[in-house]
Amino acid sequence: MAERSIPLIDHRHHSARPTVPAHAAVPDGLLADRRGRPLRDLRISVTDRCNFRCSYCMPKEVFDKQHRFLPHSELLSFEEITRLARLFTLHGVKKLRLTGGEPLLRKGLEQLIEQLAELRTPDGEPLDITLTTNASLLARKAAALQAAGLKRVTVSLDALDDAVFRRMNDVDFPVADVLAGIEAAVAVGLAPIKVNMVVKRGVNDQEIVPMARFFRDNFAGKVVLRFIEYMDVGITNGWRMDEVLPSAQVVERIHAVFPLRALDPTQIGETAERWGYVDNAAGEQREIGVISSVTNAFCGDCNRARLSTEGKLYLCLFASRGHDLRSLLRDAAGYTDAQIAAAIGLVWQGRDDRYSELRGSAAGEAAAAAKVEMSYIGG
Ligand code: GTP
Ligand code: 5AD
Ligand code: SF4
Ligand code: SF4
Repeated sequence: MAERSIPLIDHRHHSARPTVPAHAAVPDGLLADRRGRPLRDLRISVTDRCNFRCSYCMPKEVFDKQHRFLPHSELLSFEEITRLARLFTLHGVKKLRLTGGEPLLRKGLEQLIEQLAELRTPDGEPLDITLTTNASLLARKAAALQAAGLKRVTVSLDALDDAVFRRMNDVDFPVADVLAGIEAAVAVGLAPIKVNMVVKRGVNDQEIVPMARFFRDNFAGKVVLRFIEYMDVGITNGWRMDEVLPSAQVVERIHAVFPLRALDPTQIGETAERWGYVDNAAGEQREIGVISSVTNAFCGDCNRARLSTEGKLYLCLFASRGHDLRSLLRDAAGYTDAQIAAAIGLVWQGRDDRYSELRGSAAGEAAAAAKVEMSYIGG
């Protein structure tokens, strides 16, 4: 087997301090980047830690005992996160996704959700608050999360077979416990629940049809399974194109067993392409999704921003540089909301990122020289 060299650069240090404009214009929700894309979705990483070691995200060889995770003082506090989220709503954000690492490892997360649930868009609408989790703690926490104001959850699950699951995440955690977490989320109404399966060719692709069958036949259509192409995020996972199974082949394999038909998108900027089962014996529409960042980039209407655990704003999942919002929040000058909102607006207006469209080109490779890790900025 070819040796994989694992780079050890710490990208967390690459960041720029945003400019605070002298005259702060009042945000009007019409903000657009250089490609005309609005800002609608803010993904907030609440911890860089995780109790799993998925090979595509936090490979054990890198994220080992020597790895220095961020100390607590470096993390944004709940008050700081809520303040920033409120300023983002002024620019048009309608959806918040809490991520990590594993977000349920952050102590007192329910309190943060309570604070975020009080926020309103300028039109007075509550935000769509959701969370991505490996579900190891979900069975225990689902009811409290729902009571705090969480609307939905997305669960990562890469196999139904315990041995294959272990090969993907490098820990001993029973699939049955993840399923119990999903069950608990369904029971308290955190639906529609999405289950994300990252597909690595030759590692878990034999689980595609069993996973499709299981989520088609269980949970009464309340759980939507989505297949994700293994992506070259970060620089530690040793990504190789031959380990990517194109979504078209995922659809083909399922279609051969359970005929599928293409469904229309439900929202602009959606990551997943939807497919419905032709045979809906139970009456409800059952569907799957495929997320094809490698073979069919969806940067054209990407409206997602990411806030790292320590308060840096990233404009693309594949960015190598963040914009240090925490330095503005903690500045002795005491910047006002209007000033920080204006600084955020300026950063978004300068955005030109579209890595997945450029992958493989000279411009793409240059932009990706020191990509940040996904466990740090969140999915
Ligand atoms: P909902 O459908 O509203 O629940 O959200 P979503 O589709 O954005 O879902 P989610 O956050 O679960 O994203 C699913 C997966 O798609 C992530 O885990 C990533 O692997 C991938 N993904 C999400 N956003 C992006 C993005 O902006 N760029 C790329 N290249 N991949 C993304
Ligand atoms: N490729 C695709 N998806 C990834 N995720 C993390 N790393 C990768 C990668 N290399 C996503 C998965 C997982 C979520 C937490 O992050 O969807 O479910
Ligand atoms: Fe943890 Fe999710 Fe990354 Fe796996 S993909 S290591 S569960 S944060
Ligand atoms: Fe958005 Fe970057 Fe993903 Fe393209 S690669 S969809 S710009 S986050």
